[in-house]
Amino acid sequence: MGHSAPELKDKSLFIEKSYINGEWVGAQSGETFEVHDPATGKLIGTCPELNTSDVTKAIEAATAAFPTFRNTLGRERARMLRRWYQLMMDNADDLAKLITWENGKPLADAKGEVNYAASFFEWFSEEAPRMYGDTIPASVPGNRVITMKQPVGVCGLITPWNFPAAMITRKIGPALAAGCTVVAKSPAETPFTANALAELAHRAGIPKGVVNIVTAHKNTPEVGELITTHPEVRKVSFTGSTNVGRLLMKQASSTIKKVSWELGGNAPFIVFDDVEDLEVAVNGAIASKFRSSGQTCVCANRIYVQKGVYDEFAKRFAEKVKGFKLGAGFEEGITHGPVIHERAVNKVHEHVQDAISKGAKLAIGGEKASALGPNFYNPTVLTGMTKEMLLASEETFGPVAGLFPFETEKDVVDLANSAEVGLAGYFFSGNVRRIFRVAEAMEVGMVGVNTGLISDVASPFGGVKQSGFGREGSKYGIDEFTTIKSVTFGGMGEPLQA
Ligand code: SIN
Repeated sequence: MGHSAPELKDKSLFIEKSYINGEWVGAQSGETFEVHDPATGKLIGTCPELNTSDVTKAIEAATAAFPTFRNTLGRERARMLRRWYQLMMDNADDLAKLITWENGKPLADAKGEVNYAASFFEWFSEEAPRMYGDTIPASVPGNRVITMKQPVGVCGLITPWNFPAAMITRKIGPALAAGCTVVAKSPAETPFTANALAELAHRAGIPKGVVNIVTAHKNTPEVGELITTHPEVRKVSFTGSTNVGRLLMKQASSTIKKVSWELGGNAPFIVFDDVEDLEVAVNGAIASKFRSSGQTCVCANRIYVQKGVYDEFAKRFAEKVKGFKLGAGFEEGITHGPVIHERAVNKVHEHVQDAISKGAKLAIGGEKASALGPNFYNPTVLTGMTKEMLLASEETFGPVAGLFPFETEKDVVDLANSAEVGLAGYFFSGNVRRIFRVAEAMEVGMVGVNTGLISDVASPFGGVKQSGFGREGSKYGIDEFTTIKSVTFGGMGEPLQA
């Protein structure tokens, strides 16, 4: 059990400071907070406990940098993002080690996250020079109308710990491509990956004040309030829970900020009797449910399996889970790591116990893996789930799969849509007409058909209902950081001069 601190090739990527106006700084109060390895509980290091006065400086730096940065050529911003992308790739091993150390995910998954995270810089470097406007045929005689897309201004970005690199790059990439400057609040659990990214931004020649990364733990609520109420912050992009999103949205209303929210999910994953290859569906469900030990907003949460294939699906699914190897992410052969903290373990256990008390059957797991440490939970499969169980209405965010039997397409789509949230949804079927019917009927922002993995920089990421609004990645992601200005020219309809 346990491991020592990872050896970084470039030790200067481990930074216990905040990055404001191109400089590494501490809190004016001198306060710091501790960050612990979720696998071992050992101290990783400390970061500055910034307060509102510190973060105001970051907002002022971003405000001062904006007039110059907004006027850089798209081509220049593309080159900056491309250099940052390349530095991420050059330092991929170190970044992955930092992710595993502070988040707990297995090293192979962390390497996958680095590629995913860097892809947002690569993608948006390609979008930066293409912020096209339109020429619009006016409906007033003699008028001509054009539009221009402009950067919205200083952006406040608030991101979670489950993807310490990718959630930040998915916001900073389009913001910089659009010509915005940013203040990003990194998660208290995983600030070191974000700091390494800031150091790489520095090396990539991103001008001072354009990217600021601020750290806080107990001061997070007041820092969040400042970011969502400061008049110079024109846009806030948040990824996190629906409850925190609700609070931040209320705060952001005070100055009518442009906002985009990527909030909680409770993804339905449906397997119809007419599935072409049950094995592919089982693998898809495993990949979707247990990615990052169930700690992604798009993880399958309610797995609905039609009666004709239910027993076989459940048998094969539990068999695969038996093959998982739980442990610290740096250890050889580990497939699944710890969850982020003990609170998460307790929530997972509550969902399991609630389901069992209401009649679900345990196929495997169902216990804390306390011998490994307080943050480990044995991957769990429950069968005979019903809609009365907590797991049906609440996102578990942990390594528990609940299998619900169903009879008809109409029943299952109604069940799937009964959630207040609607981020991702998945289904497996070999019938093309059903595929269109169900994909169109699902109340979610993203549908996976015959696949359990939908995350891709090219595909718009975001939800409906209480999962939020706005889209990240893709050709739409940059729109969240721009405004459209129309310019109307009058007196333009004269005939050619003789
Ligand atoms: C999330 O959990 O919010 C992001 C997951 C992803 O990008 O795949």
